[in-house]
Amino acid sequence: MRITMVGTGYVGLVTGTCLSNTGNQVTCLDVDQSKIDMLKGGGCPIYEPGLEEMIRRNTRAGRLHFTTDAAAAYQSAEIIFICVGTPSDEHGRADLKYVLAAADDIGRAINAAPGATGGDVDERRAKIIVVKSTVPVGTNEKVRDRIAAQTDKVFRMASNPEFLKEGAAIADFNKPDRVVIGCEDKGTGDRLRDLYEPFVRQGNPIFIMDIRSAEMVKYASNAMLATKISFINEVARLCEAYGADVDEVRRGMCSDSRIGNKFLYPGLGYGGSCFPKDVLACIDMGTTSQTDTPLLRAVHDVNQQQRRAFIAKLEAHFGANLSGRTIAVWGIAFKPGTDDVREAPSITLMQHLLDRGATVRAHDPVAHETAQRILGDEPVYCDDMYQAIEGADALVVCTDWDEFKHPDFDIVRQRLRSPIVFDGRNLYRPESMAEAGFTYYSVGRKAVTADSGQTTVHI
Ligand SMILES: NC(=O)c1ccc[n+]([C@@H]2O[C@H](COP(=O)([O-])OP(=O)(O)OC[C@H]3O[C@@H](n4cnc5c(N)ncnc54)[C@H](O)[C@@H]3O)[C@@H](O)[C@H]2O)c1
Repeated sequence: MRITMVGTGYVGLVTGTCLSNTGNQVTCLDVDQSKIDMLKGGGCPIYEPGLEEMIRRNTRAGRLHFTTDAAAAYQSAEIIFICVGTPSDEHGRADLKYVLAAADDIGRAINAAPGATGGDVDERRAKIIVVKSTVPVGTNEKVRDRIAAQTDKVFRMASNPEFLKEGAAIADFNKPDRVVIGCEDKGTGDRLRDLYEPFVRQGNPIFIMDIRSAEMVKYASNAMLATKISFINEVARLCEAYGADVDEVRRGMCSDSRIGNKFLYPGLGYGGSCFPKDVLACIDMGTTSQTDTPLLRAVHDVNQQQRRAFIAKLEAHFGANLSGRTIAVWGIAFKPGTDDVREAPSITLMQHLLDRGATVRAHDPVAHETAQRILGDEPVYCDDMYQAIEGADALVVCTDWDEFKHPDFDIVRQRLRSPIVFDGRNLYRPESMAEAGFTYYSVGRKAVTADSGQTTVHI
């Protein structure tokens, strides 16, 4: 099939590349000339394990193309996937300006190309416009209306939310737990099912449903995952208040098969380009439809509090004025396996530390460039994790990259000015940290002091 991906970001680039890998002719379109130039030159604008090699292979095979020429990309495609961003606007609503701008472009381009204008339509030839971006329920109808305002040509609409996870995006797309397709007619459903068949050969389901339900599936899924994270973080705070250990609580609780053990890790709260904005968009859908969403509001509030509570631990130790202090930060990306720092807790934390006068020395295996775009040059970006802690008053762990899981604690202790670790990911055992001579703060567990291994409770 001839496919155009609109938006060559984390979703468009990965899904476009994977679709070309099964033999389709895929054109990735973007308005960002520098991205397209980099891709044409054999580079990759995002960090995603395995992606660069896969792009190179499919480009060489002549199946994967990159362009900024919207009209040509839209006119030649049988299926157009809209994969542009849907960030929160200042009210927490999903900002649809990129989606609707793409719809206008599509309408104009297909109007200028040959094609059927109604009457007897060969369903196999009608262009399908698929909204893959995460959008509020009802958006597909807006997209359809915007396109139809530009042209009489026949086209079909579909919703196909994406569930890939950054860091494991290729594996997720190639072997999805499920594919969700929302459409209005059987022909469109059949053609999209055909496209996805190679990815579900092991029997995972393709669910075909109405468009509004498909749009809702994505928000409901992300809201559920965010709820799990806020839930365990609230439990962690109760554990801290009462001297319980959230890791023990987690183990005891998660062995109940009705609960399960996935996505119930306490930490700094959820971040990234999806959960924060999608929870807010769901809340806004409630407000718009006068449907109360107290649970989702609490999920969001708990998440905000979680970041503040962690910063409060740091300030309880050092005081609010951090001028003259140097704080080392391990991990900037919102999770391991990606360079995405959108809504990352590390960014909130580093911004706060800088505002309070601290010097920040940060290390992330892949996210310095993306962090720099938000924080500028003020944090000192260190190429090596041990270089980051040199002379620092404390180490803060923000992302659970593998290389942080078993550091050489002798080096850490020697290089830090004072052996203090704030662990936002519960990577280490408190008793071992006390034995190794650290004062150690984590999430939902007792803080331990260096000298005696005595525990102290910090609320
Ligand atoms: N990132 C994820 O892990 C993930 C997972 C599932 C779903 N989603 C959803 O997918 C959508 C895209 O997310 P993303 O992270 O890939 O975004 P992104 O910001 O990485 O990429 C969006 C791209 O669209 C381009 N663009 C904007 N307007 C355009 C236009 N008119 N024509 C062509 N290109 C245009 C931008 O230049 C950018 O390169 C969002 O709705 C998001 O919620 C994201």
